[in-house]
Amino acid sequence: MSQLARVKISALGTYVPPRVLSNADLEKMVETSNDWILERTGIRERHLADKGVASSDLAVEAAKRALAQRGIPATDLEVILIATVTPDMLFPSTACLVQHKLGANGAWGFDLSAACSAFLYALQTGAQYVATGMHKKVMVIGSDVMSSIIDYTDRATCVIFGDGAGAVILEPAEEDEVGLIDYVHEVDGSGAQSLYMPGGGSLHPSTRETVEKKMHYVHQDGQAVFKFAVRKQTELCEKLLKRNNLKGCDLDAFIPHQANRRIIMATADRLGLRPESLIINIDRYGNTTAGTIPLAMGTAIEEGKLKKGSLVMLASVGAGFTVGATLLRWAY
Ligand code: UT7
Repeated sequence: MSQLARVKISALGTYVPPRVLSNADLEKMVETSNDWILERTGIRERHLADKGVASSDLAVEAAKRALAQRGIPATDLEVILIATVTPDMLFPSTACLVQHKLGANGAWGFDLSAACSAFLYALQTGAQYVATGMHKKVMVIGSDVMSSIIDYTDRATCVIFGDGAGAVILEPAEEDEVGLIDYVHEVDGSGAQSLYMPGGGSLHPSTRETVEKKMHYVHQDGQAVFKFAVRKQTELCEKLLKRNNLKGCDLDAFIPHQANRRIIMATADRLGLRPESLIINIDRYGNTTAGTIPLAMGTAIEEGKLKKGSLVMLASVGAGFTVGATLLRWAY
């Protein structure tokens, strides 16, 4: 834990593709309404990638912005970790594709699969490399093109998801007052079938039948995920706050995975957060899976809520189930 405190996020870059799919657009595609979507999820619009644009493309755009902010070339990167459930292909890893497109010739890397918690898991994985002294510049990217695995005739899922990416650079923190402080992660595989994509893996390799049965799309038991999300996200955040002698009201910014506005509000209520600390941008982007937390960090910066020393909690729940919470002090 003490080593992790010496690792900081030194830069952030985000990217969403320009095309917007509004609730009004969805009303023309499936039997739904702007009122239903807004009331049940908090989403107004989401950005979708054009055909042929993959997770690596979004990741590269986000990465370039993070590098530009930090003022370093891609060749300075030593490790690239990509959090995604929509890799360009099963192999090679999207990390390899991003390394090549960026010209990050000194970097090795790999993809990390943990659905909506993947960005937090990758963040902590990257932090270990920096904390041990093995590496000084690690890039962690959450990138998903969810539109590539969504059935746009299924109103229960197609209104929720969007495409987007965010990248951070991890480096040793020179000052003790800033950087990653602590984290809690949990998985509960008993929830595997509440949110999953059954086809295309070694269990159900792609066949005409898997396509006809729509097994290459996201399948979700929304209510089961909702209940688990509120309960577990709150539980992990409370645990993390308690063991660091903090209360919800001490946080300057609470940056949760953006899956549903009602999940975020329920968690915020239970944690006793100050309303101004809550970061919500689901209205603009929907659920971009591994992209939500870095995109929401970007929103927090836009809103002037992240300053050097700000106390921040990141939280996520996703398919698996996977759950995570990270505590840090913003470094710039
Ligand atoms: O990051 C991934 C993690 N995923 C999540 O966190 C998702 C968590 N779950 C949710 O966000 C919510 O469960 C949903 C937004 C997916 C669904 O909201 P809900 O309030 O749980 O709705 P429901 O599934 O209980 O459905 C209520 C009604 C149903 O109609 P009947 O059976 O009551 O007649 C649905 O068929 O709403 C209907 N419905 C819709 N109506 C209009 C479902 N989707 C839609 C829709 N438009 N898009």
